[in-house]
This record gives sequence, C-alpha cells and structure tokens, in this order.
Amino acid sequence: MITRFESPADIAAIRAVTIAAFKDHPHSDQTEHLIVDRLRHAGALSISLVTEVNDDVVGHIAFSPVELSDGSKDWFGLGPVSVLPAFQGQGIGGALIRKGLDLLREQAAAGCVVVGDPDLYQKFGFRNDAQLVFKDCAPQYFLAQPLSSTGASGMVTYDAAFYAGVDGQDGAA
Ligand SMILES: CC(C)(COP(=O)(O)OP(=O)(O)OC[C@H]1O[C@@H](n2cnc3c(N)ncnc32)[C@H](O)[C@@H]1OP(=O)(O)O)[C@@H](O)C(=O)NCCC(=O)NCCS
Repeated sequence: MITRFESPADIAAIRAVTIAAFKDHPHSDQTEHLIVDRLRHAGALSISLVTEVNDDVVGHIAFSPVELSDGSKDWFGLGPVSVLPAFQGQGIGGALIRKGLDLLREQAAAGCVVVGDPDLYQKFGFRNDAQLVFKDCAPQYFLAQPLSSTGASGMVTYDAAFYAGVDGQDGAA
C-alpha cells in the first residue's frame, strides 16, 4: 500500500474511486467527484493524495483552502475522502486523513475543518467548535482542528470551486 500525491495519470481513477465510494452514501448527491475536478481546475486542490494497492488507485483525499471571516489565514478544508468499497475498513481512509494532516502541519497550516460524521472525524482530532460557523450544515457535522494556530473564529467559507456552477466547470478537468 502506497500513499502519494496525485499525478495527472490518476485523474480518471480518482473520479472512479470517488463515485464508487459515495454511491450508496445516505447524504451524498453523487457529485463529489465533480468537486475534486472543479478544485483541481481552479488550482484550489491544495493537497491531493492517492492510495495505491497493486498499482491501482483505491483511495483519495482532497484538501482545499477555506476563508475565515476573522481574517485568519492558512486554514484548509478536508474532503472529499473516498475509499473503494471493497477496500474500506482496512485503515486506508484513516491513513489518508493522517497523512494529509501531517502534510498540512509541515507546511505550517493554521488549521483544518471538515464537514461529515463526527464519530469518524473525532478519531483524527477534529472537534465541534462553537467559535467557527459554517452555514451549509447542522453544527454537529462541522468540525475543526487548529494545527499551528491556537484557533480562530467566525464564518467559514469553502473555495468557490467547491460548489457547482463555477466557471461552467462541472467535471471537465
Ligand atoms: C469514510 C471512509 C473514507 C473511511 O475510509 P476507511 O478506509 O473505510 O476507514 P478506516 O478503515 O481507515 O477507518 C478509520 C477509522 O474510522 C472509522 N470509520 C470508518 N468509516 C466510518 C464512518 N462512516 N463513521 C464512523 N467511523 C468510521 C473506523 O472504524 C476506524 O476507526 P478505528 O481506527 O477506531 O477502528 C470510507 O469508508 C469511504 O470512502 N466512505 C464513503 C465515502 C465517505 O463517507 N466519505 C466521507 C464523507 S464525510
């Protein structure tokens, strides 16, 4: 099992892994692969890692910049993170999350936020933080962890490319 940065040759496999991972996800609209494509196209895919098993990409994680209304710099959003169903539950997703957070620490990122299952993300140091507000989900599903900072406060906004309809780029990488 190898975890490494994505290369251009991985783009189709990343799409396929993301689609397969979210296929039966109860809170998915099955467009997560388009988020990755849009972020890449916009130059907002700050960190993109793949896990390779026997030369096949079986997992992927994306990080992109987020803005904080208090002016705090160098905060990032984790996601999407995807592991092919047949490879889930073997430590691959956890390894991708830990590696991504290590890379953010190495580059002195101030902190990281995530939208998702609190039971999952609390295992990796994320916590609900009443000082940080994200308007697109219920507060219990929005978690944060300071990395090199002591924390921040205010509204959190993901990169515009995270959302559909940006520059007409809906998946055309
Ligand atoms: C979520 C996902 C990336 C996790 O990858 P994985 O390789 O299956 O996870 P791991 O085997 O590394 O498990 C890491 C830990 O998280 C836990 N975990 C995994 N998925 C979880 C979930 N959905 N809810 C709660 N905990 C979860 C595991 O039990 C494990 O905990 P442990 O270390 O205490 O045993 C993967 O299941 C997936 O692709 N799911 C579909 C897409 C998705 O839901 N992405 C996240 C959107 S918020």
